[in-house]
Amino acid sequence: WGWLGSTEEFGRPPEPNEFIVIPKSEIHCEKYAGSNHAAHCFIYAENNERVFDIYNPRASILMQLRYDGYFGFPGGLIDAGEDFVSAVNREMVEEINLNTTIHSVNHDDHIISHWSEKKNLVLHFYKLKVNMTDLIEIERQASLARDYGTEVLGTIRVPLYTLGDHYRGFPVFLNHNFIGCSRDQLIAALTSLNILTPEEIQLALNANSRNI
Ligand code: GTP
Ligand code: MN
Ligand code: MN
Ligand code: MN
Ligand code: MN
Repeated sequence: WGWLGSTEEFGRPPEPNEFIVIPKSEIHCEKYAGSNHAAHCFIYAENNERVFDIYNPRASILMQLRYDGYFGFPGGLIDAGEDFVSAVNREMVEEINLNTTIHSVNHDDHIISHWSEKKNLVLHFYKLKVNMTDLIEIERQASLARDYGTEVLGTIRVPLYTLGDHYRGFPVFLNHNFIGCSRDQLIAALTSLNILTPEEIQLALNANSRNI
């Protein structure tokens, strides 16, 4: 049973989220020089083509199912000597086979950074806007990635609409388990890119807390 971990470890719930937002001006601060850093990316396309002729998807956003069972974004750890942007572009080649000669992230695409003192980890988040045709091609290419089937078990789209019961759709999605602060990153990106209004997000979070 060694491969399951010890019985004490097995089934232990994840630690509570303890990430705090770092101001943009402080991401290169000396304070974080000794921390591990990682960079992940919000790949999205505007999409107002109704689903089942009813629901407006607003945007198609790519997330992935990770080897550890959590949902997260493509991206990963920054190697020694590597800058954040090079790392996120390299990780997207490894994890989703992104053609970075066509689509890549720049410094300007930074959305938000978080820090966990306890985990000694700084998490940087970037955006990559594409059109719907390219997003579909990115999805197709993802299953051919080097890390597909190991680190990454699949690429998914996030449902942003909510059904008539005020629960299925986005609120249910938010009830999944997300790695690191990726749930906060998703909410921050939706707000700052004006994909959903703060009121719409609050409604989904409230529905979520009903715990149906
Ligand atoms: P390896 O190549 O196996 O080392 O993985 P990686 O470099 O792809 O790293 P990974 O994407 O797992 O990210 C490193 C750490 O960042 C993880 O251990 C998580 O704690 C955290 N993490 C992973 N994905 C996300 C994400 O989408 N958002 C946030 N905020 N954190 C993440
Ligand atoms: Mn990764
Ligand atoms: Mn990786
Ligand atoms: Mn890596
Ligand atoms: Mn790897």
